[in-house]
Amino acid sequence: MKIDPWSSSTYQDYENLRKEFGIEEFTEDLWQYLPRPHRLLRRGIIFGHRDFQKILEAIQNKQPWAILTGLMPSGRMHLGHKMIIDEVVYYQSLGADIFIAVADIEAYGTRGFSLSETKELAVNEYIKNYIALGLKPERCHIYFQSKNTFVKDLAYLLGKKINWSQMTATYGFNGATNMTHVFSPLVQTGDILHVQLERFGGIRPVLVPVGVDQDPHICLSRDIAQAHRLYNVIKTKDDKIGIFVKPDNDIIPLLDNAEKIVSSLGFTEFKRISDYKALYLLKAKESDICKIDKALALSEPEFQGYGFLQPSATFHRFMTGLTGGKMSSSKPESAIFLTDSPEEAKKKIMYAKTGGAVSLEEQRQQGGKPDECIVYELFLYHLIDDDVQLHDIYHTCRSGDRMCGQCKKEAAELVGGMIQQIAEKRNLSNKVMDAYLD
Ligand code: TRP
Ligand code: SF4
Repeated sequence: MKIDPWSSSTYQDYENLRKEFGIEEFTEDLWQYLPRPHRLLRRGIIFGHRDFQKILEAIQNKQPWAILTGLMPSGRMHLGHKMIIDEVVYYQSLGADIFIAVADIEAYGTRGFSLSETKELAVNEYIKNYIALGLKPERCHIYFQSKNTFVKDLAYLLGKKINWSQMTATYGFNGATNMTHVFSPLVQTGDILHVQLERFGGIRPVLVPVGVDQDPHICLSRDIAQAHRLYNVIKTKDDKIGIFVKPDNDIIPLLDNAEKIVSSLGFTEFKRISDYKALYLLKAKESDICKIDKALALSEPEFQGYGFLQPSATFHRFMTGLTGGKMSSSKPESAIFLTDSPEEAKKKIMYAKTGGAVSLEEQRQQGGKPDECIVYELFLYHLIDDDVQLHDIYHTCRSGDRMCGQCKKEAAELVGGMIQQIAEKRNLSNKVMDAYLD
């Protein structure tokens, strides 16, 4: 099985997906240490991650970190898209620098949109709604791929350490794939890594919150980041921590530098193994690797390296469409759009598939199935922040004390109110738009 970032497939079995692709589970062990953990984190909607530990450490130690995510401006913004921004707004409240890429090159290369069409959609559909959803302009940068020289330059330069076989194996490209499409994963790598360039805040942990369809790009960016490092820090076969200088670099000055850095971290017992271009730390533990690697990364620009830390990622589930299948802009009846009128949105809920039984009688006796209910999913993802209240809905549904008609009405009222509030804030967004755009 392969994840194809450009297909419209839906995923059901997230657990299997995690196992197959080596994505870590996003458990309570991680979110319980975050301030005011967001409902999407508490409720397993963000079900997986790569390297989130790094972000947690930065937050706990009050060190700088950043969020980078991207949007493909290829249709109207719906509740599925809202999830990412809810996350971003939360992380902004924890102190992250925020970067949002408008993937206009990708939309042009893979979906056939013109750059001016994507600009119009990005501003009017997405960015206005982002502002309405509470994104603040401070330390927040929204940019277009096609206008960002740093991103495009990195895409060219970083491509050096990836070859065509790797690209075809990852993405299934073939002789008929257009070259802008082929290039778009490298542009996305440029998006993800450019925030660690000096002028964008320098080397620091970066979290990329995305849907799981983006995992191939995450892996590519992580591989490329590591491939461009000057040092590799690993546990050796004889259980030592080894710092290896990558081939084609100046060995002696880099080993001198490594000695200086590990000493300053308090590791004073080490041995240089010139044959291996390595420094072995005799008393370091595996749990020290992260700290050592970060300190070395920070020194790499002095030696003409980038020092990129491997980016972290979280993966969220996709929202089910109101009629089943995936919520998608191309099927208007499947999605609630943020620019729907409150009446339209309410009406859509009344048609949504539920987990109710065939008759009221049967539902009273056997209860409903909230886990298979799209109305419940709306409560879970968007409408009810209070966990106690959500549990109550869940249990009264299961026990047969809650009927779908009334339940849908409650959901419709909440959706209507939410959409109304977003619309009011969106109408004020024009005035402040410039503060967000680079
Ligand atoms: N490829 C993403 C999508 O299809 C959009 C995107 C572009 C992106 N650059 C990014 C996502 C960087 C995360 C990080 O939606
Ligand atoms: Fe869904 Fe509510 Fe019906 Fe339960 S009662 S199945 S939660 S609509």
